[in-house]
Amino acid sequence: SVSLLGALLVLVLIYLVSNFGSQEDKDPPGPRPLPLLGNLLQVDLKRPYYSLLKLSKKYGSVFTIYFGSKKVVVLAGYKTVKEALVHHADEFGDRDPMLILQDTNEGHGVLWSNGDSWKEMRRFALTNLRDFGMGKRANESKIIEECDYLIDVFKKFKGKAFDMTQPMNYAVSNIICSMVYGSRFEYDDPEFTSMVDRANKSVQLAGSPSIQIYNMYPWFGKFISKRKEFLRFYDANKKQNIEMFKNLKKTLNPQMCRGFVDAFLVRKQNLEESGVSNNHYHDNNLLSTVNNLFVAGTDTTATTLRWGLMLMAKYPKIQDQVQEELSRVIGSRQVQVEDRKNLPFLDAVIHETQRLANIVPMALPHKTSQDVTFQGHFIKKGTTVYPLLTSVLYDENEWEKPHSFHPAHFLDKEGKFVKRDAFMPFSAGRRVCLGESLARMELFLFFVTLLQHFRFTPAPGVSEDDLDLTPRVGLTLNPSPHELCAVPSSRLSLSLHLTHHP
Ligand code: HEM
Repeated sequence: SVSLLGALLVLVLIYLVSNFGSQEDKDPPGPRPLPLLGNLLQVDLKRPYYSLLKLSKKYGSVFTIYFGSKKVVVLAGYKTVKEALVHHADEFGDRDPMLILQDTNEGHGVLWSNGDSWKEMRRFALTNLRDFGMGKRANESKIIEECDYLIDVFKKFKGKAFDMTQPMNYAVSNIICSMVYGSRFEYDDPEFTSMVDRANKSVQLAGSPSIQIYNMYPWFGKFISKRKEFLRFYDANKKQNIEMFKNLKKTLNPQMCRGFVDAFLVRKQNLEESGVSNNHYHDNNLLSTVNNLFVAGTDTTATTLRWGLMLMAKYPKIQDQVQEELSRVIGSRQVQVEDRKNLPFLDAVIHETQRLANIVPMALPHKTSQDVTFQGHFIKKGTTVYPLLTSVLYDENEWEKPHSFHPAHFLDKEGKFVKRDAFMPFSAGRRVCLGESLARMELFLFFVTLLQHFRFTPAPGVSEDDLDLTPRVGLTLNPSPHELCAVPSSRLSLSLHLTHHP
C-alpha cells in the first residue's frame, strides 16, 4: 500500500507539472480534472446530461469537462448550440464515434462515420427514405397500415393494464422494415421479434454506465461483460441481415425496388458494370447503414410515443382536450398527414412531449473537423463536442415553464400552433436527424390513431400523481417501467357523453 501511495503521489506531481501553463489554460473553462478520474466526481453517470446542465450554470455556455482522461467540450443553451451547429456547421459537424461502436462497424454507414463516405450514405439514405415507392404518400400508407395492426394488439388487452414497450417497438420497427426490406413482419414471427428485441437491448446497453466507463478507459474493455453482450447482439443481427440481403438479391428487379436494400444493390451493380471501382457502395456500408436506420429509427420513435401516452394518462384534462379536438375535426374517419394543420392543440401536445421527454439529451457526440475559435474560446481540431440538447429544450430564456408539461409553449393566444426555434429534439445543422420528417409523420399518425381508439389511464391502484416522470437512462431517455390501460373508446364516447350532457 505504501508503493501504491507513492505511485499515486508521483502521478499527481506529474499531472501538476505537466499542466503548468499548458493547453488547458486556453481551453474553455471547466472544473479542474483529477488525474485518471478527470471530472468523474462531478458527473453522475446515471444522469450525465443532468450533471452537465448544472455545470453549465457555473461554467457558462462553452465549457470543458473530462470523462476520465477523455476531454469533452460541452455546448449549452439555445443560442450557443444553434450558433455552433448551424452557423459553424462544418467546424462542429464531424462525428466522434463512441468506442463501443467503433468495435462493430469500423466507421461505415451514416450514424458514426465521417468524410465522403458519410456524405454519400447520408444523401442516398435521405433520398430513398423520402421518395421511396410513390413518395411521401407511400410512407404515409405504410404507417397507417401499421397503426391498424397496433390497434388490434392494444384491443386484445380489453382495457386491462399492460406494458406498451414491446408492441410499440414492433410496430415502429416494422416501419423501418417496410422501408428497408420492402415488407413488414407479423408480430409473432420469431425472426422478427428476436431481431427487434436484440436491437433494443443493445441501444440500452450502449448507454449503460459500465459501457460509458469502457468508452473512457478502453483498456478496461475486456473486463466488461456488458460489452461482450452488446457485441453478441450486434453480431446476431448482422448475420440475420446478411441472410435477408441474400434473399433480396435473389429476387431483385431493378425496375421495381422494394426498399432501401434493393436500391442500394441496384446502385452497386450499376457502378460495378460501368467499371467504377473504389466507390462507397460496398457490403460494409450496406450493413452499417441498414443497422443505423434500425438503431436510430426504432427506439427513438417508440420511446417518444410511450412518453406521449404516459403524459396523457398523467394529465387527463389535457387528454380530454386532445380528444375533444380530434372528435370535432376528424371524428372516426382515418386521419391523414394533411389533417395536422387543423389540429393545433394535438400538434402542440406532440411537440411538448418531445421537448419535455428530451430523449436524446446530449445529441450524439460531435467532433471538431478543424481548429476553431468559438465565442472567444480556442477549440482544437478533433476535440469531442457534446451539444447539450437538454439545455436547449429546457432553456430558461426560451421556455416559460421549462420543467413542466405545458402544451401552451406551442400555442398563441388564439390557440393557433406556433413553431419555436428552440424546439431541437432532432438536433440541428449538418448532423441533424436524418429521419426527422419520417419520425414526425409516425408520431402524428400513431398518436392520433391511438387516441381516436382509446383513452389512456394509469393501472388500477395507481394515481395520476404516482406516474413518475423520472427517466430511466440508456442511450435514450425512457419512461421508467410502468403499465397503462388502453380503454376502448366505445366505452369512452359513452362516458364523454355523460360528462358533457349530464
Ligand atoms: C441522428 C433524434 C428518429 C435516423 C439523430 C440525432 C438526434 C436524433 C438527436 C443526433 C444529431 C446530432 O448528432 O447532432 C431523433 C428523434 C427521433 C429520431 C428524437 C424520433 C422521435 C429517427 C428515425 C430515423 C433516424 C425514424 C431513421 C429513419 C437518424 C440517423 C442519424 C440520426 C441516421 C445520424 C445522422 C448523421 O450522423 O448524419 N437523431 N431521431 N432518426 N437519426 Fe434520428
